Amino acid sequence: MADKTFKYVIVGGGVAAGYAAREFVKQGLNAGELAIISKEAVAPYERPALSKAYLFPESPARLPGFHVCVGSGGERLLPEWYKEKGIELILSTEIIEANLSAKTLRSASGKIFKYQSLIIATGSTVIKLSDFGVQGADAKNIFYLREIDDADQLVEAIKTKKNGKVVVVGGGYIGLELGAALRINNFEVSMVYPEPWCMPRLFTPEIAAFYEGYYAKKGITIIKGTVAVGFTVDAKGEVKEVKLKDGRVLEADIVVVGVGARPLTTLFKGQVIEEKGGIKTDGFFKTSVPDVYAVGDVATFPLKLYNELRRVEHVDHSRKSAEQAVKAIKASEEGKAIEEYDYLPYFYSRSFDLSWQFYGDNVGDAVLFGDNSPESASHKFGSYWIKDGKVVGAFLESGSPEENKAIAKVARIQPSVQNSDLLLKEGISFASKV
Ligand code: FDA
Ligand code: NAD
Repeated sequence: MADKTFKYVIVGGGVAAGYAAREFVKQGLNAGELAIISKEAVAPYERPALSKAYLFPESPARLPGFHVCVGSGGERLLPEWYKEKGIELILSTEIIEANLSAKTLRSASGKIFKYQSLIIATGSTVIKLSDFGVQGADAKNIFYLREIDDADQLVEAIKTKKNGKVVVVGGGYIGLELGAALRINNFEVSMVYPEPWCMPRLFTPEIAAFYEGYYAKKGITIIKGTVAVGFTVDAKGEVKEVKLKDGRVLEADIVVVGVGARPLTTLFKGQVIEEKGGIKTDGFFKTSVPDVYAVGDVATFPLKLYNELRRVEHVDHSRKSAEQAVKAIKASEEGKAIEEYDYLPYFYSRSFDLSWQFYGDNVGDAVLFGDNSPESASHKFGSYWIKDGKVVGAFLESGSPEENKAIAKVARIQPSVQNSDLLLKEGISFASKV
């Protein structure tokens, strides 16, 4: 098998890869210079769609509708686009070995790829219940969601188990988005998670109370403070029940698990410096190895605004880090300098008719504003976080585009506040005046 050589190789064909390809073209790329090698069978797409519109019972999103870069209002890069630009999309190809000193990658079928510069964009994989030895966790109809193949299997089960019972394990992003999606598909949904409130990574108890109340109103049963410890499986190998640590047993036709993600760095272990679970980079996404960059979920990068190293598992950063790395590669070739990455964390989620955005850092004291009652007609409420007398983070449910822009500005500028009563009183209008 002949080796293939490229000037640039991106390993991983997810969100970051797609945005990097677009940036390469913007910066000037010759045909044959760039290859994207992806385990998935399809060109880069906007992964967030998989837990939202992909699962709608009516007019669900399907490819090619959500290839990158539509998620940020950009051009949709169809497979033909890569062809036209002379970018080789090497799909259904898993890299199983990387040798960063020899600058080679080897695929599962034994193909060798050589590169001058490498961008690592392997993203994350799901943490599985079988990783902690939960009994019966390999049963049929227990689903995880990361890639389009996973979403297709879930869609199939939604059809076969119509109007059945779903148990969602996990109260994070996947749990909340899939709990809603399955309810919309008319399943009887129970959600189980160990913490005292949902999404504790970001939500305060007051924020969580709104979503928990709203989900309950939609008919979802929430069971907190316990975990799934085993599954009952029938003769066909299909899941039938979920056994909880507190002794309760829940019937289930489908189980959806979202108990966290793990960055895919294993290929590079011992070859690059790692930090906080990811591959350590500088503000240009350069790793400790020359000509090797890491972007998206796998990168632990300097978050300039907070003067610390962080890893971020969200789509906005995957897009922006990819663009930054490509700009840095191109600038270094031309002997030019570019600005260091100066990222403002931005996360969002959507479920039912709800939609929130968060900017900044959720540290310090939280001040809730607006009406967080699940019964409220507008669902408009939010929270500021104050640290050392400055507003460092802001969350808003059901904000208008202008209001969302305003909270982003607050989190970036970090205005001083004398007392939290002002934020409580002014609510969103505080942000709108900044
Ligand atoms: P990404 O996971 O997109 O891509 C990695 C690619 O590398 C995959 O194609 C994978 O197959 C491939 N790969 C891995 N190892 C390989 C190997 N050895 N060889 C070849 N290919 C390999 N964020 C947000 O801000 N808002 C949201 O609403 C959502 N919603 C959402 C829904 C769902 C279902 C998921 C799973 C995730 C989200 N996210 C999100 C998170 C967001 O999608 C995520 O942070 C980005 O996709 C990360 O982009 P990357 O390109 O780093 O990885
Ligand atoms: P997560 O970290 O958001 O949530 C994990 C949750 O798992 C925890 O909150 C906890 O409730 C629960 N948990 C942990 N151990 C458990 C156990 N043994 N039993 C039951 N529950 C347990 O992770 P996720 O929701 O799985 O999301 C996976 C990845 O996808 C993350 O990188 C996330 O950022 C990304 N994602 C993001 C979005 C978004 O930004 N809107 C949407 C979907 C997915």
